[in-house]
Amino acid sequence: MSDHPIGGAHAPLLEVDHVVVQFGGVTAVNEATFVADAGTVTGLIGPNGAGKTTCFNVISGLQKPTRGKVRFRGRNVTGAPVHRRSKRGMGRTFQRLEAFGSLSVRDNVRVAYDIHRGLAGLVRPGAKDIDALLDRVGISSYADERADSIPTGTARLLELARCLAGDPKLLLLDEPSSGLDESETDDFGDLLRDLAAEGRGILMVEHDMDLVMGVCDTIHVLDFGSIIASGTPGEIRRDPAVQRAYLGYSDEVPEHELVGASAGASAVEETRTDLVPVGAATEATTVIPAVGATIPEDVR
Ligand SMILES: Nc1ncnc2c1ncn2[C@@H]1O[C@H](COP(=O)(O)OP(=O)(O)OP(=O)(O)O)[C@@H](O)[C@H]1O
Ligand SMILES: [Mg+2]
Repeated sequence: MSDHPIGGAHAPLLEVDHVVVQFGGVTAVNEATFVADAGTVTGLIGPNGAGKTTCFNVISGLQKPTRGKVRFRGRNVTGAPVHRRSKRGMGRTFQRLEAFGSLSVRDNVRVAYDIHRGLAGLVRPGAKDIDALLDRVGISSYADERADSIPTGTARLLELARCLAGDPKLLLLDEPSSGLDESETDDFGDLLRDLAAEGRGILMVEHDMDLVMGVCDTIHVLDFGSIIASGTPGEIRRDPAVQRAYLGYSDEVPEHELVGASAGASAVEETRTDLVPVGAATEATTVIPAVGATIPEDVR
């Protein structure tokens, strides 16, 4: 899958190579092949049930693939346990939040530092390190609150701070922006760019298409467990297979059928609404009516 010799100087940070995951009769991931590079933000997007979290579980070692390989920093880690991948520099946040509810936000980060570094008894994190991390992710004002009392969006940022305490080379973020308001999401996007500029690789599963299109260098699209498109945000927006997968129709459908009232209604019915096109009117080659968009008077 890669042009680079495995383990060579230019091997991608992460390579997912023809991964298959079957749960009984369900094929959750079907020959998925993609990479994520250091110093970049990579998006993994797709409709609900497409297999995104299962891919993350395979990458992080929680799920053994039925077939296929995962390489991280040039080494085959397919059979490696979670803690070994973590030690090698893989950090992950979860769709379901994992922080200790009865501890304060600050103590949650302290524990994360302890887990990553302090247990060896070599380095104890200073209060300054912890507070700098809270500040970096923008949750300083919640430092003394119990983790189970903070808003969901803030809890996601706490997850990110806990993850960053391990100084990961690759960050796997599963729906990190859910619960954030618009301005928090903007700040979060800036933080992701900043983390990538430090040389980290970020692989993000995310349903907020504004964020994905705004911050990702590369996007891979999963549908029914298979990668159906990979490219820059502009390429992904224009890709007919992506438009079909998310919207239930494609470039091949004559335009008058798309804007006509009855065809519009059936298109809406078939639409997988979790991924409404973003910037459809700005860059897509086909003008896609957004779900629920009002149809102009003159075409009704
Ligand atoms: N442990 C499991 N046992 C059986 N089926 C599973 C299991 N985990 C996931 N699946 C199935 O695998 C498919 C992919 O699920 P997955 O959670 O990876 O999707 P997803 O893309 O993360 O979806 P979402 O956007 O809703 O989070 C779904 O059909 C799901 O029902
Ligand atoms: Mg998921």
